[in-house]
Amino acid sequence: MTAASTHARMVGAKYAACASTGNTSASLAIYSSAAQLFNALVFVGSGKIAFGKLSQALDYGAHTLQIAGDFDDALKQVREVCQREKIYLCNSVNPFRLEGQKTIMFRVLEALNWQPPDWIVVPGGNLGNSSSFGKAFLELKELGLIDRIPRLAVINAAGANTLHQLYNEQSLRWNDGRTDDAKIDGFFSQMDAENRRASTLATAIEINRPVNLKKCLRALEACDGVVRQVSDQEILDAKAQVGAGGFGCEPASAASVAGAKQLREEGIIAPSDQVVCILTGHQLKDPNATVAYHSSKAGAIDPKLAAQGIETVSFANGPVPVANELDRILEVIRSL
Ligand SMILES: Cc1ncc(COP(=O)(O)O)c(C=O)c1O
Repeated sequence: MTAASTHARMVGAKYAACASTGNTSASLAIYSSAAQLFNALVFVGSGKIAFGKLSQALDYGAHTLQIAGDFDDALKQVREVCQREKIYLCNSVNPFRLEGQKTIMFRVLEALNWQPPDWIVVPGGNLGNSSSFGKAFLELKELGLIDRIPRLAVINAAGANTLHQLYNEQSLRWNDGRTDDAKIDGFFSQMDAENRRASTLATAIEINRPVNLKKCLRALEACDGVVRQVSDQEILDAKAQVGAGGFGCEPASAASVAGAKQLREEGIIAPSDQVVCILTGHQLKDPNATVAYHSSKAGAIDPKLAAQGIETVSFANGPVPVANELDRILEVIRSL
């Protein structure tokens, strides 16, 4: 967002807009208010946005439109509005966003003394991150700053798995830029005909029409990549493990860890491989998901999780109810 905001300012934009599952809008909102660069106009879908993110957009003063639809609808609308009204668009269709996102890989390499890891594992939503990572590695190799390119694993949520379906089930490939567009069009036409909507607790990747699909295919080719899908169950369990390790992340981010676990089980990631999972969002972005998970237990799954098909929680760490009496409290503590 730093790169896109800078460019918006350079071209004298008065308004900058984005559609968002939450984080892009939070980021755009704070750039617009803290640096007084432009007015922020944010399009979010209804119902699905995590409150940690919505609260940022509202608090930082973004004009927030809650579209009666999902992220895919919001993105379609904001693209049209920006074109008609000459408003600066900050979604990852904007090339400056992708240029900025390359720096995530620069920071990873910096932390690893410029020795590329064996794997980069990243959640896939609109596929801006994965696209930019591939571009970063291609360019770094060409510049001679690294001598090999890590493998890339892009992880979809099973409820928003367009990339998985096209890449693994329909063998769609970059093919030197000559992608099979008929295959892509056919896939989306069928999706529309069936009115299929993305549905996952990992709201940040609840996206069925990834705008950077082709760029991601290029990244997958450049990085000898793989694509996997993980269930919400796997995502939430991985999220709890990340939290127990002292980091904490929002559900979408944990898709990377769940995906790495799956690839390790398949033997595609070797025990000796160095694996970097990108945790894309902070734990407090979606506290509802965290509390619902930890408050659940066998046979008493939180209704919101149950509605999403979660049947068990493996790492729940729920609060223990106890009477307001010292003896009872001590009893509980001693039984831990
Ligand atoms: C927390 C989080 N994870 C993953 C993603 C997905 O990234 P991309 O859209 O670049 O695939 C997003 C995008 O907004 C996000 O906010």
